Amino acid sequence: MTPADTTITVLGAGYVGLTTAALLAHAGYTVYALEPNPERLDVIKQGKSFFFEEGLDAIIKAALDRGTLIPTDSYADSVPRSHIVFSSVGTPDNPDGSSNLTYVFAAAREAAAHLAPGSIYVQKSTVPVGTGTRIEAVFTELGASIHYVSNPEFLREGTALHDTLYFDRVVAGGNDSQAVDEVLAVYRQLETWRDTIATAAGIKPTTQTGQYISTSLNSAELIKVTANAFLALKISFANSIAKLSDEVGADIVDVMDAVGADKRIGRAFLQAGRGYGGGCFPKDVSGLIASGLDHGVELEIMHAAQAVNSSMPGYIVEKLLTSCDGNLSGKKVAVLGLAFKAGTSDVRRSPGIALANTILRTGAQVTTYDPQALGEAEEKLHDGIVQFDSLEKAIAGVDVVIIATEWPEIIHYSAQRYAEAMQGTLFVDAINHFDIATVQQAGLRYIGVGR
Ligand code: UDX
Ligand code: UDX
Repeated sequence: MTPADTTITVLGAGYVGLTTAALLAHAGYTVYALEPNPERLDVIKQGKSFFFEEGLDAIIKAALDRGTLIPTDSYADSVPRSHIVFSSVGTPDNPDGSSNLTYVFAAAREAAAHLAPGSIYVQKSTVPVGTGTRIEAVFTELGASIHYVSNPEFLREGTALHDTLYFDRVVAGGNDSQAVDEVLAVYRQLETWRDTIATAAGIKPTTQTGQYISTSLNSAELIKVTANAFLALKISFANSIAKLSDEVGADIVDVMDAVGADKRIGRAFLQAGRGYGGGCFPKDVSGLIASGLDHGVELEIMHAAQAVNSSMPGYIVEKLLTSCDGNLSGKKVAVLGLAFKAGTSDVRRSPGIALANTILRTGAQVTTYDPQALGEAEEKLHDGIVQFDSLEKAIAGVDVVIIATEWPEIIHYSAQRYAEAMQGTLFVDAINHFDIATVQQAGLRYIGVGR
C-alpha cells in the first residue's frame, strides 16, 4: 500500500498521539486524530495543541489546512476507513503503582468493532509486558481478525518532533511479521519527509540515522519500560552519589563529567538535582515494579531508584533549612520553573511543584514563575502559593531563589541580576546548572545538590 491510499487513525490526541498524528499527516498519509475530551478536541480543531510543544502548532495548522489531519471524536467516522490504527490513549497509574489499563482496553474493544479484517492495531501507549497478548485475546473473543503490533514510544516532551523525526531507533514487535514490517514502513516513509517537516516546524534538521528494530511482542513491550527505567536509574544513581558528594565536599558535576566520559557509561541522564518527574519515568518505574511482582520477580533496584527520587525535594529543602538555622518561617522564597522539565507546559509529577509545596509547609511565603506551565500548575500548587506572570515579579525582594527547571529564560538570567532583585542572598540551584564561583561573586550563597 502507498501512503496516498493509506488512512491512519490515532486514538488519543495527547502528548504522544497528537505529535504522532500531526507528523504522519505531513508524510503523505490521511490521519484522523481521535480525541474524546471535548475541550482538547476544540483546541486541536483551531489548529493548535492544548499543551506547549515547540513546532507542533505550526504543523497541526498546516495539516488541517491541507485536509490531511482530521480531528474527530468518532470511531465510526475514522476507524473503518483506516488500515492502521495507533493507540496512544492515557495510562494513568493506579494507587498501587501499576498501570491503569482501562482506557487501553476500552479503546481496543471500540476499535475492534469498527476495524476491517486484516487491519493493523498498533499500541503506542506504555503498557506492562503481556498486555498485547491479552488484547489479542480480546480481538479473538470479538471475532475480529486484526494484527496487533507493539510500537513503543521514545519521544521526550519538549523535543517531541525532533525525537520522532531523528530517532535513535524505532521498535515494532508482534506475532505477524508482515504487520510489523508495515508499521516500520510508516516510519521509513516519515523519514523520507523528515527534513521538510522539520523545516516547516522550525526545527533544525540533523543527519542522525536511527535503527529499525523488529522483534517479538513481549520483547517490544519490555524494551520501552526497560529503557525508561534505566534512565531513571541513572538519575537516581547520580542523586545518591550527590548526597555523598555533599558529605565529603566533592562536586557531583565534576564527578559525573569524568565518570560519564567513559564511553561505556556516557554522561547523559547523570545530571543530579531535584530528581525526575513527568508523565513517564515515575509511572514506568512503578509499572515495571508491579509487572515484576505479577511474575514473582522482585526488582529491588527499581525500588531503590524510586526511593532516592522521592527523597530529593525534601533533601533540598533540608539543605536550605540548614542554611537558615532551621527556620524559613516568614521568609520569601521564589521557586522558578514548575514544568517537570524545560520546553513543556506539563506539570505531571513535577519536582518544581513538590519543592514549592514542601517549602510552603515550612512556613515560608512562596512565589513561583514558569514561562509555560502557570495555568497547568494552578491546581497542583497548595493554597497560599502565589504565581507571577514574569520572572522579575516572582523574585522581587525575596530571601531565597530556587532554580527548579532549566528554562533558558531562568538559567540565562545572570547571577548578578538575581542578586540585584533579591533582598536575601540564598541561591538554591536545584538543577546544578550555575557556575558556583559566578554566583558567589554576585554576593549570593550557592546551594547545589552534591556540590
Ligand atoms: C502517552 C501514553 O499513552 C502513555 O502510556 C505513555 O506512558 C506516555 O505517552 P500521553 O500522550 O502523555 O500518554 O497522555 P495524555 O496526554 O494523557 O493523552 C492521552 C489522551 O487519550 C488524552 O487526550 C485522552 O483524552 C485520550 N483518551 C483517553 C482517549 O482517547 N480514549 C480514552 O478512552 C481515554
Ligand atoms: C522520557 C524518555 O526520555 C522518553 O524516551 C520517553 O518516551 C518518555 O519519557 P520525558 O519524560 O519527556 O521523556 O523527559 P526526559 O527528558 O527523559 O526527563 C525526565 C525527567 O528526568 C525530567 O524531570 C528531567 O528534568 C529529569 N532528568 C533528566 C534529570 O533529573 N536528570 C537528568 O540527567 C536527565
